[in-house]
Amino acid sequence: MLKDQIKEHLNDIHNTHVENFKDRMAEIEMFRVRYLGKKGLLNDLFDQFKSLPNEEKREVGQLLNQLKEAAREKIEEFRSAMELAEESRDTLDCSMPVDFSPVGSRHVLSVVMNEITDIFSRIGFTVAESVEIEDDWHLFSALNFPPDHPARDMQDTFFVEKEEGKTDVALRTHTSSVQVRVMENNKPPIRIIAPGRVFRNEAISARAHCIFHQVEALYVDKKVTFADLKQTLLYFAKEMFGEQTQIRLRPSYFPFTEPSAEMDISCNICGGKGCNICKGTGWLEILGCGMVDPNVLASCGIDPNQYSGFALGMGVERMAMLKYQIRDLRLYFENDLRFLRQFDAIV
Ligand code: DAH
Repeated sequence: MLKDQIKEHLNDIHNTHVENFKDRMAEIEMFRVRYLGKKGLLNDLFDQFKSLPNEEKREVGQLLNQLKEAAREKIEEFRSAMELAEESRDTLDCSMPVDFSPVGSRHVLSVVMNEITDIFSRIGFTVAESVEIEDDWHLFSALNFPPDHPARDMQDTFFVEKEEGKTDVALRTHTSSVQVRVMENNKPPIRIIAPGRVFRNEAISARAHCIFHQVEALYVDKKVTFADLKQTLLYFAKEMFGEQTQIRLRPSYFPFTEPSAEMDISCNICGGKGCNICKGTGWLEILGCGMVDPNVLASCGIDPNQYSGFALGMGVERMAMLKYQIRDLRLYFENDLRFLRQFDAIV
């Protein structure tokens, strides 16, 4: 019966609650179309109403009007609820204090290590990584260390296994071991950068630590010369410490390079005039470098008559100390938030 249908619809409307709508705007519109649209329920019911016998028309007509009114009222109710929600969004007080949850940041050593790697990658060096537990061959022998070199001594190296007649195993004392592994497994041209952690048996103080980080670079190809090394060093120093930076090379000795040198940069604190950081000299010692010793190339299966190369190695802690004027090595490893947070802003 038409009367019952209308009553059912009235009931439906009564039980519809705006809070249950997910996409309010769309659902309100759907509600409107369903009841009041051209092809909506009310028009349909009015059509049916027309063919009712006259004696029923009065009662059903009233019910129909009620239904129409109820649908309109419901829509009005929905709209004002929406407006209220909008309004409360508009009146949100943006000056209210907020609880910022702290986010982590990179450690300053990672930042500096990434920066060094980045600078070299811009001129074609790719990252090479290798093991931290190494054998004597990769740490010393292949790098032309004589059998009685003091670095092989217990004083400097943490040995994992040390037995007469056996290949010794140790925590790597430098990242130069990565050079050997790369040269053994790749043919020139080789252009790699090896960032990583190294270990030495040292007492911990402001100036020394038993764990620290190095970045090693190696370039092997036909006709690589000392001039290539020098140009690369100058480029690196300017990128790392600023365009005004100057470099100087002092002759030095490393078993794996010949000739060897140490590079200084003009002091970035006093600009070369002399201060307590550069101990009055105007220069800061930065890294060791040299032309790869032909013995090393040969040990790694590369013909020294065809190829030459340069290598360099630097300490990451020292780079960070010079860049950010950090005075005590121990700060890097203590994880004191008052120290770490000073580098939040650099990424
Ligand atoms: N391995 C050296 C050290 O630990 C650093 C070094 C010096 C690396 C000269 C090199 C180099 O590649 O050519 O002190």
